[in-house]
Amino acid sequence: MRVFNFSSGPSALPLPVLEQAAREMPDANGTGQSVMEMSHRSKEFSAIIGETEALIRELMGIPDNYRVLFLQGGASLQFAMIPLNLGAVEPGAARKNAAFVETGVWAKKAAAEASKYLDARTLASSADREYTCIPAAPKPAPDAAYYHVTWNNTIVGTKWTIYPDTGAVPLAADISSCILSEPLNVSRFGILYAGAQKNLGPAGTTVVIIRDDLIGRAPSWVPVMLRYDTHAEEGSRYNTPPCYGIYMIGLVLKWLKAAGGLPAMAKINAEKAELLYTYLEQSRHFRSPVEKTARSLMNIPFVPVESGAAKRKEIEERFVREAAAAGLVNLAGHRLVGGMRASIYNAMPVEGVKALTAFMARFEAGL
Ligand SMILES: Cc1ncc(COP(=O)(O)O)c(C=O)c1O
Repeated sequence: MRVFNFSSGPSALPLPVLEQAAREMPDANGTGQSVMEMSHRSKEFSAIIGETEALIRELMGIPDNYRVLFLQGGASLQFAMIPLNLGAVEPGAARKNAAFVETGVWAKKAAAEASKYLDARTLASSADREYTCIPAAPKPAPDAAYYHVTWNNTIVGTKWTIYPDTGAVPLAADISSCILSEPLNVSRFGILYAGAQKNLGPAGTTVVIIRDDLIGRAPSWVPVMLRYDTHAEEGSRYNTPPCYGIYMIGLVLKWLKAAGGLPAMAKINAEKAELLYTYLEQSRHFRSPVEKTARSLMNIPFVPVESGAAKRKEIEERFVREAAAAGLVNLAGHRLVGGMRASIYNAMPVEGVKALTAFMARFEAGL
């Protein structure tokens, strides 16, 4: 029996995708081989990576002057690759600066990693509000190498809703936990990146969408594998890419296209989020800690209203345990913030959220 999996990542994949992958496991598309066994330079795999890129371009409306790269190292490696490629300088040259907005743990990590290679300036932070809102975004210095934001904050459940005005400074955004969840104007960004393990496919692939003019800026000392020009010139096949993961992303994208693409996804995602937020509004025992204007569609944390810490913890543990027994798994909040969190990515059906709110009502009745 399949459970409703509310994990923040790796997370649930659409069942038809898993079933298709299972069918094609020993013999993909009449080739007599699994995709896992194919040479990454074969014509069969070339067709897979080509189709996957074409689909992501079509679904996201990626303009022609952007490259799509399939890399490894997770979103975390992009915290280093972006400064290494856009802001690092040759030895002896004056250090550059880059701008950051601190909206949570991942945003902070991106700035900390960048500070090894440039002057990382945090222009605004919502740390004093426990990251429950998105702060107003000040303009960067005109000579900033880039301006970094975490578009959807997986742990605290906030998201950006307005594109910050960065002037001519390229906007870099971590869209790991919201890629393909709703339309995004790619042309407002210089670079976008996402680890695959939430809305795209299995862990192991990172999708990077980068504007042409930002490629080829890395100083000579940056290792070959960490340079965007290396991967752009070689069509993401400078070395062996995560072939099976790319194939799985392709299957997810086909599923998404058949479901109506991003406008349809946005509608379903809004409906799912609305169900849960509306439930929380009327709940006597749980509440959303996030400011209304900044609420994520993908990650919805909630906490007991109880004021005593010990009692709160007891309720949380019981909730997570009993929910799991009812087939609703991975509802514990991130270890850094506690509480509960429902991650309701594209693959989570409306029925999963309805099952969750029904369980919450039963649970509350027993408190
Ligand atoms: C917004 C965001 N950025 C970065 C990461 C780190 O991603 P990875 O594990 O792919 O390095 C995560 C992981 O959950 C995330 O949610």
